[in-house]
Amino acid sequence: MKVSIILGTRPQIIKSAPVYVAFRSSGLECEIVNTGQHYDYEMNRQFFSELQLPDPAADLNIGAGTPSQQVSAIISGLGELFEKAKPEIALVPGDTNSALAAGIGCVKSGVPVAHLEAGCRSGEFRMAEEVNRRLLDHMSHLLLCPTSRCVANVRREHVLADSVINVGDTMYDSLLKLAPRASASDPASELGLRHGEYVFMTLHRAETVDDPAALRRVMGAVGRLPLPVAFSVHPRTRARFREFGIAPRPNVKLMEPLPYIETLGMVSGSRLVITDSGGLQKEAFWLGRPSLITRETTEWGEIVRSGAAILVGTDPKRIKLGYDRLQKVEPARFRSARRIFGDGNASAKVVDAVEGYLRNPGRD
Ligand code: UD1
Repeated sequence: MKVSIILGTRPQIIKSAPVYVAFRSSGLECEIVNTGQHYDYEMNRQFFSELQLPDPAADLNIGAGTPSQQVSAIISGLGELFEKAKPEIALVPGDTNSALAAGIGCVKSGVPVAHLEAGCRSGEFRMAEEVNRRLLDHMSHLLLCPTSRCVANVRREHVLADSVINVGDTMYDSLLKLAPRASASDPASELGLRHGEYVFMTLHRAETVDDPAALRRVMGAVGRLPLPVAFSVHPRTRARFREFGIAPRPNVKLMEPLPYIETLGMVSGSRLVITDSGGLQKEAFWLGRPSLITRETTEWGEIVRSGAAILVGTDPKRIKLGYDRLQKVEPARFRSARRIFGDGNASAKVVDAVEGYLRNPGRD
């Protein structure tokens, strides 16, 4: 029996790495198919080597393009690949354009789909990822949800999957495995930043960075904060800085996209995190750091309700107020909701769920 993990972007590699290891140690044959949606070394292959994944069995190399060009290239690439040999099941993580395209490519070739991180919702239907995840959930056979709220979301939408299981969050597995290496690394001091005396920031969502006024508001607000801001810059955001002629203020230090362990190290050493990333919100929470989320909605409302994160949009006043409020967050806030994302053994549960499905496909 063979499982294919189909991925193509940075967060998908992080979500999949512990699952690949768990599949291999269970004795199940497992291979990786890389779509190449992220094509820079720092955004894709760097994570393979850091997370000790083997080279992909197949690389569709779709490269740059519009979302519709990328989605159609992945669908036809998978169709050709599956003409030669088909896996028994495909594991598709997350909600990127690669995930949507992988789902369509699989169902059109008769390959059942297990969606990893199923049921996650922001409620913002104009967001590309929200459309992707809803469609993917509806075409998947096995829904592997990271939280009980995600299970409730798919039940509420009457998604007709064969099986819906709360396995926990495989990003949490990754983080627990790599946290010791992250705390041993000290990337901040190499930049002349002192522990607890800087803000760590990432911004990459189209809603924030493709709108010049929104990007200017956020950059203006962080430029007035009293601490240095270490900003790991996504290639999309760097391109928008050039296009809109935005130059960061002196307290903002721009960095290339960081490797995973260094990212965790930067989060651990920070006073707080500013981000529009879904994954980084969780990582900050698990590492006990508060975050300001530069969006109006989040997939992870549990973290906001715990008081460890605040939604501030792109309004400078809300960013400053949020920053002041998050200066002191009691450690209990982080403990209160940690178990929501499972116990760090989500990958083993994914393997059990997939094996169970392959033994007995059909409705639960
Ligand atoms: C994608 C996902 C998003 C995820 C993010 C993680 C979708 C709709 N969005 O967003 O959910 O949080 O990945 O990073 O799939 N680019 C490069 N080099 C690269 C990759 C991208 O230069 O390796 C540039 C290109 O100009 C590209 C732009 O960034 O057009 C956007 O890349 P894309 O893959 O479309 O989406 P992300 O913003 O990375």
